[in-house]
Amino acid sequence: MKNFAGKIAFITGGASGAGLGQAKLFSKSGMRVAIADMRQDALDNAVGEIIAYSGAKPEDVLALKVDLTNRAEYIAAADKAEEVFGAPPHLLIQTAGVNAFGPAETSTFEDFDWIVGVCFNAVVNGLVIFVPRMVKAYGNKEEFHIAATSSYAAFMGLPGNAPYDSAKAAVLNLHDSYYKALVPYGGGATVLCPQNINSNIFACQLYRPESLAPTGYNTTETTMAFLKNMHSQGMDPVELAGWLKRAIENDQLIVLPYDNAEEMLRGNYERYIKYASPEGMKQIREQDEAERLAAASFADPGVGFGAARAGIDWVHESKKPK
Ligand code: NAI
Repeated sequence: MKNFAGKIAFITGGASGAGLGQAKLFSKSGMRVAIADMRQDALDNAVGEIIAYSGAKPEDVLALKVDLTNRAEYIAAADKAEEVFGAPPHLLIQTAGVNAFGPAETSTFEDFDWIVGVCFNAVVNGLVIFVPRMVKAYGNKEEFHIAATSSYAAFMGLPGNAPYDSAKAAVLNLHDSYYKALVPYGGGATVLCPQNINSNIFACQLYRPESLAPTGYNTTETTMAFLKNMHSQGMDPVELAGWLKRAIENDQLIVLPYDNAEEMLRGNYERYIKYASPEGMKQIREQDEAERLAAASFADPGVGFGAARAGIDWVHESKKPK
């Protein structure tokens, strides 16, 4: 997709962080932009920020309050955007996401249901809802493109981020399928895989649904403050959106928004190659034992980040909150 002006974008998670950066940039590129998010206060604030940044007319920025894991709500939001803008989106960007850190082995069903629910199932919802509409409206007639914000985590399975890493890997794989599926219709697909973004994801625990509250992880004000500080050093969301836009223009499936992307990918795939042979596994096992244990625990003992919920007594000593 090369031309954006006058076209329609639908951006999930568009009220904050990476999604808000995308909404600003694509609005400035002349698109009519719908942002879909579950937090009304953040949506209200975002609309003002987008208009101030892009100079868009108020009628070209639409805020939709929706829990994307709820299919009926997501369908209603898609219908509303189509009603207001008069057509389905040419560009779908699914960026909404949540995260929580803790030992894989103490994960609860609720940890998986919440994180995989938002990071993967909601993306599936978006593809099932929008792709048929986009193909019917634009297939081999006008440019159209689907995109999602996955993560660099898609290329690894860390011991302290299992629901998230697996959901992000699944988003990547899913877009590989859809990229190929859309070729006969002239549509494109892009998956954004960043490391650290200057966003508000550290605060997602505050709106985790009550029904999915039981967690196996240590999440406290201290761990949130630790994450807030870490994310404050991340990439600016509008700069990140620029990487996504260039990848969409180049019809590129995967974008790691770094100059050494190839080296980063090679390192991960070399590890997979080692996993796939007895000799490779021997090499991995022969790494220094302390290094292996540190990698397995993931936790920062200083603040209890990545540790198990207090009271889980069977977990390895290195994973207990201090
Ligand atoms: P953020 O918290 O600033 O923005 C995420 C938005 O998603 C929030 O506005 C939130 O209200 C919305 N959201 C969450 N659950 C929702 C639901 N069920 N329905 C509707 N909206 C929902 O976080 P950030 O960092 O901008 O996250 C955007 C994406 O970037 C996520 O997919 C995240 O996994 C990914 N990512 C973030 C990284 C980081 O360092 N912050 C690194 C790599 C990827």
